Amino acid sequence: MSDPEPNPKQEINYTQIFINNEWHNSVSGKVFSTINPATGEKLCDVQEGDKADVDKAVTAARTAFKIGSKWRTMDASKRGKLLMRFVELLKRDISIIANLETLDNGKPFYDAVDDVKGTISVFEYYAGWCDKICGKTIPVDGDYFTFTRHEPVGVCGQIIPWNYPVSMLSWKLGPALACGNTVILKPAEQTPLTALYCCSLFKEAGFPPGVVNVVPGYGPTAGAAISEHMDIDKVAFTGSTEVGKLVMQAAGKSNLKRISLELGGKSPLIILADADVDNAALWAHAAIFNNMGQNCCAGSRTFVQEGIYEEFVKKAKTMAETRPVGDPFDAMTQHGSQIDEAQFKKILDFVESGKKEGAVLEAGGERFGEKGYFVKPTVFSNVTDNMKIAREEIFGPVQSIIKFKTLDEAIERANNTSYGLAAGIITNDINKAMIFSQAVQAGSVWVNCYDIVTTQSPFGGFKQSGHGRELSEYAIKEYTEVKAVTIKLPQKNS
Ligand code: NAI
Ligand code: MG
Repeated sequence: MSDPEPNPKQEINYTQIFINNEWHNSVSGKVFSTINPATGEKLCDVQEGDKADVDKAVTAARTAFKIGSKWRTMDASKRGKLLMRFVELLKRDISIIANLETLDNGKPFYDAVDDVKGTISVFEYYAGWCDKICGKTIPVDGDYFTFTRHEPVGVCGQIIPWNYPVSMLSWKLGPALACGNTVILKPAEQTPLTALYCCSLFKEAGFPPGVVNVVPGYGPTAGAAISEHMDIDKVAFTGSTEVGKLVMQAAGKSNLKRISLELGGKSPLIILADADVDNAALWAHAAIFNNMGQNCCAGSRTFVQEGIYEEFVKKAKTMAETRPVGDPFDAMTQHGSQIDEAQFKKILDFVESGKKEGAVLEAGGERFGEKGYFVKPTVFSNVTDNMKIAREEIFGPVQSIIKFKTLDEAIERANNTSYGLAAGIITNDINKAMIFSQAVQAGSVWVNCYDIVTTQSPFGGFKQSGHGRELSEYAIKEYTEVKAVTIKLPQKNS
């Protein structure tokens, strides 16, 4: 792998719709601009896909999925080799992809590099799965032989968000392609560039036309065209709970396509008084401020046990105040800009509501610099459960520190939310950690750490944080249909 080099002048070569391994302008002739949120300046125009473009992509994906097509007749191991070839190209172009990600998203360059490394690991992992997806033989009653085939679901629509654009692409495409599906992916309108760049690599790697199609565009148009489509067999979505509900409704109203949804969160991190306060404050800081708080599993409710509360708040405040904010291409920067003006304003409105409802602003609470959409790392203490900042997903760099007395009380309060994506606990008492791990309603639980998301481990939500699981072998299940084949035997088995 080449050593990643930051380059704020990275050239942007791919801005069109990718269907059938070819670049297309939008049927409507419309384009939209994508901006650099760290400067507020336009980067380029991108072709704006809509229903007509989604229809074209579905036709291509359906053709590529037909029995007898190159993709369907390919050995499973060959699919794995194609994915590995794609991995080699990601490694070759890691700098280009990370630079495009930082330009389009505003995250620190070295965080974008980590995202591309994670993307590589996800595709490598699923490359290995291709020829290991097996059915069973089943000892059925009667003179019959039954076996199952785990077949690809078919044409999959995938709608992804802007917070981890290239990583989300890998979580979606990795398992879908390993299982032999074909795909129409819609990147978020804020961050189309890395998905389009990856299209050029899928083509270069030798994927047959129509297997991977990418249609950039807006949610209510291109996104809705995917979730309502009668000839898409499955839709996978990551984004807000609000839109997740729309996607599920659209699936229900159209062809009952399969769904997997990875939605919002308001994840609790519980810090018990027996913990080392310095270590706990570090984990809690990373849990909320990584990726500028734009993280579905952000530890956005920091519950701290009385006894260490005041000391913890002091440390949290100092860490927030000294977190290096600034130019995402500067190697010292840990904290870049928020994604766009809408999110920036939404976060500052949350800060105002926190102040109004009586939380104590310890740090930040305002914009950083004069251009772009930077928000200073913000810390509130004296937060109570009923405050808006403790109930709703802010998706920004705002730490809410809440006091509690007993573990039982903390568990009840942690679960008192419609979300259930993630949770964490910092303690030296293994028994308490085990009690918490069982009682908390969340798809991921971290003990003495936080936000450790690995390719091999399943990720997804309880309650209104979603449906299904991504990553790991659990994602393979989301991208396969099980077919039972029964054959009459000549005589009774004895
Ligand atoms: P969003 O849910 O609107 O956007 C996510 C994706 O869904 C984008 O690709 C968008 O174009 C698409 N989309 C939007 N409306 C659609 C529709 N009607 N049908 C089909 N697709 C549609 O999220 P947005 O507006 O960017 O952010 C709002 C809030 O959502 C954030 O403040 C945050 O709380 C949450 N969010 C959660 C994410 C997560 O990782 N779970 C990621 C992004 C946002
Ligand atoms: Mg952008």
